[in-house]
Amino acid sequence: MQNKEITIAIDGWSSCGKSTLAKAMSQSLNYKYVDSGAMYRGVALYALRKGWASKNHLDKESLIAALPKINLSFEYNSSTKSSDLLLNGENVENEIRTLEVSEVVSKIATIKEVRKNLVQQQQKMGKEGGIVMDGRDIGSVVFPNAELKIFVTASPEIRTKRRFLELTNKGEQVTLEEVRKNLSDRDKLDTSRKESPLIQVDDAIVLDNSNLNQNEQLVLALSWVENYFDNKK
Ligand code: DC
Repeated sequence: MQNKEITIAIDGWSSCGKSTLAKAMSQSLNYKYVDSGAMYRGVALYALRKGWASKNHLDKESLIAALPKINLSFEYNSSTKSSDLLLNGENVENEIRTLEVSEVVSKIATIKEVRKNLVQQQQKMGKEGGIVMDGRDIGSVVFPNAELKIFVTASPEIRTKRRFLELTNKGEQVTLEEVRKNLSDRDKLDTSRKESPLIQVDDAIVLDNSNLNQNEQLVLALSWVENYFDNKK
């Protein structure tokens, strides 16, 4: 008998490898993958382009009023075997990954109206199950009834190095110190904000991947999926 397709919620710190894990799990299970952080980044890029957001300033009212005009969707990219974010039909997958966007996105993610809008879209995408979604509030707010919840963590030093390599490999001119500061600022904002802060929910399994490679963390997480189905029998 075919197993029912479940919902897998993956939360954790910035640059801890959540998306890598979520993507790999979705490929192994043949499930849909949604990177909810990409959606917050899409809204941040929109605000940056309009001049409504910078490191020291945020025009909340204009952004909230424009939310109905911000259309976010995903398009499968066969060369990366992943989904790219489209902002009003434009592929912005590269633009949303820059340090400039990273520097304003956590602030944008504190806005209640932005969260409400994106959470609704995310819940719609996951209506049928068969989905792996990663973010900060997936197990707590978006899919509180997810069959499997994973909380990913890694040491700040390791996360800084991984993120630095990711950015410099793409040709961004950044220093290790800038990346370290950005991660630590985002950790602070993500955990201390009023609206759905990053928390480790009680029913999440913790995955510390500081000393695991990508394949090792995938094998471990897939064993939890297997356990879930075994316990259902
Ligand atoms: O996962 P990421 O680094 O691409 O996410 C970008 C930002 O968006 C992150 O600083 C926090 C925010 N975010 C959020 O608040 N809730 C989510 N479900 C996903 C991301």
